[in-house]
Amino acid sequence: MKKVIQKIGVMTSGGDSPGMNAAIRAVVRTAMFYKLDVVGIKRGYKGMLEEDFVPMTSASVSKIINRGGTILQTSRCPEFKEYDCRKKAVENMEKAGIDALVVIGGDGSFRGANDLFKDFGFPVVGLPATIDNDIYGTDLTIGFDTAINTAMEAIDKIRDTAQSHDMIFFVEVMGRDAGFIALHTGIATGAEVTLIPEIQGDIDSLCNYLRMGRRKNKSSGIVVVAEGGHMGSAIEVAAQVKERIPSYETRVTTLGHIQRGGIPSCNDRVLASILGFEAVNALLDGHSGEMIGRVNNKTSFTPFEEAVSRHGEVDKSWYEITKILSV
Ligand code: ADP
Ligand code: F6P
Repeated sequence: MKKVIQKIGVMTSGGDSPGMNAAIRAVVRTAMFYKLDVVGIKRGYKGMLEEDFVPMTSASVSKIINRGGTILQTSRCPEFKEYDCRKKAVENMEKAGIDALVVIGGDGSFRGANDLFKDFGFPVVGLPATIDNDIYGTDLTIGFDTAINTAMEAIDKIRDTAQSHDMIFFVEVMGRDAGFIALHTGIATGAEVTLIPEIQGDIDSLCNYLRMGRRKNKSSGIVVVAEGGHMGSAIEVAAQVKERIPSYETRVTTLGHIQRGGIPSCNDRVLASILGFEAVNALLDGHSGEMIGRVNNKTSFTPFEEAVSRHGEVDKSWYEITKILSV
């Protein structure tokens, strides 16, 4: 028999991403529509362990759709990997009358959610939210679109000064071990070279490529370096190039956490709103242990087990396209 759901818990977990607030808002407002109660769990799994629960109403999520970060805050909580901690977390939720849970986060957060589902049968669904876009089972994650636009605007500005001074800039973007942000921003900014973790590159080919640019009268350039790449950080890549071609004037910019914040884009707000709505409906329909995403413009359900055992994959052919377009 399906458990009757009267009170839903909602939380954000792992790295924050723009659009998380829009997702929280959609979960709360949809639950209100069905006359359910909602509890906000502060700071992800940490708050679950510390009983940091706040009642949420329609008013609690007013004027947040356009705000970056997450009003519920987030955290990394390594102790949640221990069974006893998770048992305590479930007890805390039961004590607070929480019948079902929406976890908004990345694959690490879904591992925790999957354990709640498997070990305790706790009803839980997940919404993919990370700037990295590396989650299997959805075409896009909440926050990716804003992050690539932030990075693109920053690289456009760097391009101006690179051109003024005949410099080669090595710009490091985030992505953990995935090249989505790098590939998209590399294409969008017309970067001369884009280095991603999914493609094994070597420093001599990179230098030859930059030399070829010079021969074609390119006096400046942008190399987008994904963190987690084979040739190291942007600082390390720049140093290796400088060692081989000392005449190049090189500079390094690491964009860092600027990519995680800011006003969410229209696409991220829409994605987060639709997924938040779908999450509450899915729980009421008896779904559990699944991530809700969008594939080919349709809502999709992927078991956590599958979502965490695979990775969203970049289209490697785009890497070849960046090379053709940049010369
Ligand atoms: P993200 O969700 O953005 O991938 P993390 O990888 O930091 O971020 O994971 C967020 C949180 O999820 C962790 O701090 C931890 O509390 C929980 N978590 C991660 N991996 C596991 C796991 N294997 N088992 C249980 N909980 C986990
Ligand atoms: O997963 C999002 C992300 O921003 C990655 O791109 C990056 O590798 C990581 O989180 C940085 O994490 P932290 O904020 O803990 O340094």
